[in-house]
Amino acid sequence: MTILVTGGAGYIGSHTCVELLEKGYSVVVVDNLANSSINAIEGIKKITQKDLTFYKTDLCDKAELDKVFAEHEFDCIIHFAGLKAVPESVAMPIKYYQNNLTGTLNLCSMMKKYDVRQIIFSSSATVYRSDNTMPLTEDAHLGATNPYGWSKFMCEQILRDAAAAAKNWAVVLLRYFNPVGAHSSGIIGENPSGIPNNLMPFIAQTARGIHKEVRVFGNDYDTPDGTGVRDYIHVTDLVHGHVCAIDYAQEHRGCGVFNLGTGKGASVLEVIHAFEKTNGVEIPHSIFGRRPGDNAIALADPTKAMQVLGFKAEKTLEDMCKDTWRFQKRTP
Ligand code: NAD
Ligand code: UFG
Repeated sequence: MTILVTGGAGYIGSHTCVELLEKGYSVVVVDNLANSSINAIEGIKKITQKDLTFYKTDLCDKAELDKVFAEHEFDCIIHFAGLKAVPESVAMPIKYYQNNLTGTLNLCSMMKKYDVRQIIFSSSATVYRSDNTMPLTEDAHLGATNPYGWSKFMCEQILRDAAAAAKNWAVVLLRYFNPVGAHSSGIIGENPSGIPNNLMPFIAQTARGIHKEVRVFGNDYDTPDGTGVRDYIHVTDLVHGHVCAIDYAQEHRGCGVFNLGTGKGASVLEVIHAFEKTNGVEIPHSIFGRRPGDNAIALADPTKAMQVLGFKAEKTLEDMCKDTWRFQKRTP
């Protein structure tokens, strides 16, 4: 089987390419390297000792994308490519809608033109409204609070409508909770440009001495220790969910939607302490005010993914901290 991985040089995409190559799939990556580097592609090849085809192409460039589709027969697409920084999306909404929606629409056009019938889409827990009860099931109320979240919401709708019209398409919408961790080799991992917005990379950089301390955004939430609770999932577990989704797409038509999370929550302080304990490092931290737009808790109900996809996350918070730190130490 040949899989097109859009955004395959990025954090989750690169880990997915490793798993796909190790499982014997042929892999074609399209990435414009807007938030990644060619080093990730070299890292994938180094880990797997296998080759893939890489195109430095922007999904928004329909003519270039057409050339990629003309050169391969894809059995399935995994669509990771997109811009994902929430604060940047608030400052530059048009850039986000332009990139994330146009990329998805162009892919849909190519699927139609070249009769590719299966697509797996990277959605996010951010498409759930903040007033749902926890844990979140797939039929919880949808809505978003920022342009990034709305772009995911809209892409979901585009793909749902396309699947309904096409009849023979299989669309799988995967709503990720909080992916963290890195490949056990330490060769690939999350390497955000600039100052990280997300907790785990910020902790890892603080352990390296890049930042003075971690700012804990609020300790007055209605949670056991007052700090925000999230459902952290190891990136290699998350990747396994995509392999399950490929199998599901072979046998189903229409649109399936699944949460990818563990169902277990960890607070900000629990993550900091787990990182310290697992890696024998100190993470200076202090309490700051709440970050605007944050919820107290975001927790997946992973039952549907377990029952329908046969997916279960296996790795612990300690594994996530250990693998993040191994990668961070190797990163210049
Ligand atoms: P990432 O930024 O590391 O990877 C995305 C990749 O897409 C990058 O390599 C980037 O260069 C590429 N890209 C962006 N726009 C493109 C375009 N127009 N054409 C070609 N390539 C383009 O992000 P990630 O963490 O690996 O996330 C992958 C996907 O999962 C994204 O769609 C993201 O929104 C979604 N997601 C991520 C998280 C998370 O916390 N990491 C959570 C939920 C959903
Ligand atoms: N936090 C801190 N200090 C930091 C960074 C984060 O205390 O320096 C806290 C946040 O307040 C939150 C928790 O750590 O309570 C997790 O924050 P992240 O920024 O790591 O993750 P979020 O849950 O806010 O957001 C992530 C992605 C979004 C995605 C969302 C749902 O960044 O893109 O998960 O999938 F939409």
